Amino acid sequence: MGEMKTITVELKERSYPVYLQRGGLRELGRLYLEHGLGGRAAIITDRTVEKLYGPLALKGLKEAGVDAQLIPVPAGESSKSLEWADRLYTRLIWGGFDRDCTVVALGGGVVGDLAGFVAATFLRGIRWVQVPTTLLAQVDAAIGGKTGINHRLGKNLIGAFHQPQFVLIDPQLLESLPERERWSGLAEVVKYGLIRDERLFERLETQLEALARLEDVKALEGVIARAVEIKAEIVSEDERERGIRALLNFGHTVGHALEAASRYQRFLHGEAVAWGMRAEAWLSQKRGGLSPQEFERVLKLLRRFPQGERPEGLDKETLMEYIYRDKKARRRTLYLVLLRGLGGAELVAVGEDEVRQALEFLVS
Ligand SMILES: NC(=O)c1ccc[n+]([C@@H]2O[C@H](COP(=O)([O-])OP(=O)(O)OC[C@H]3O[C@@H](n4cnc5c(N)ncnc54)[C@H](O)[C@@H]3O)[C@@H](O)[C@H]2O)c1
Ligand SMILES: [Zn+2]
Repeated sequence: MGEMKTITVELKERSYPVYLQRGGLRELGRLYLEHGLGGRAAIITDRTVEKLYGPLALKGLKEAGVDAQLIPVPAGESSKSLEWADRLYTRLIWGGFDRDCTVVALGGGVVGDLAGFVAATFLRGIRWVQVPTTLLAQVDAAIGGKTGINHRLGKNLIGAFHQPQFVLIDPQLLESLPERERWSGLAEVVKYGLIRDERLFERLETQLEALARLEDVKALEGVIARAVEIKAEIVSEDERERGIRALLNFGHTVGHALEAASRYQRFLHGEAVAWGMRAEAWLSQKRGGLSPQEFERVLKLLRRFPQGERPEGLDKETLMEYIYRDKKARRRTLYLVLLRGLGGAELVAVGEDEVRQALEFLVS
């Protein structure tokens, strides 16, 4: 078992620690008690994660004297629905869970968003903790208190801000994660490097494949820690995304359009973001925010990602429609996160013709 590292998300009375430790899942019971979470625990998970880690999570809590119970939902995005939230409310009510109980979200971003939403709304909000089990959730989704579910008219349209009591990251859990999912999570790490930390970007340049293939677990832990620090800093400055938190959307305006235009079937989230970053880096370079050399470095790193799913063949005008449907589009003026050097970013108004050219660069 590795050493435990603690990173704090500073939010005044809502501040909380993110614990990072190889093998840390074994500490869940101890941390639960240390945080004064005395009541019963509802471990919300998905069926895949339940099989892999449910017994260990349950045992840890029970050995600490906590009355805990596993509540699984099917794996996959379709569980992030009002229907599944409703089923979870029913389980909690039938199970006699009261205001003193705690939700433990054990899983990837889907479980985190759904369980967090249920915790935010059940009995007007109960306490919860996050145990993210995908790389994407460890470096991104589990930090910052955004919870939510999908509506048939769009993703993440229903939700709440609800900060957890603590987050426990155990990088060892990534050993069972399919490599494709690890690459998807790494795309978000590239994003952090590009918008905020050139050194992190350089670490990825030297170690990308070793990180994805878990050949260097120490390096991976270091990269996860740095990503969590960056996300924690940004969330501390801007919990409700009124300003700087929007910079986390680098690569996402185009990325979300790629996901939507392919009906969420073709790309994993990080894969779409990796393509989106290419297009948005192209725009950054066109606007003079990146030098040709810097732009080439970005492309070179992103070309090392698996190229299985590509945006070619997607209709440009359909993509334009989705881009302008994005939350950040006010009338036909689009505000995009563009890079200012490697490690810096800003929100910039971009013309429609330039966006079209960026898509041309991507899909041709
Ligand atoms: N709240 C936020 O700030 C935020 C940020 C980014 C993304 N998200 C949300 O996160 C979701 C995507 O999250 P995700 O990429 O983690 O997907 P996911 O939760 O669907 O997990 C991906 C797959 O991996 C499986 N899995 C999880 N952990 C595993 C493990 N350790 N070993 C083997 N298999 C494992 C899951 O069962 C699932 O099939 C999206 O719904 C997105 O909207 C939320
Ligand atoms: Zn993302």
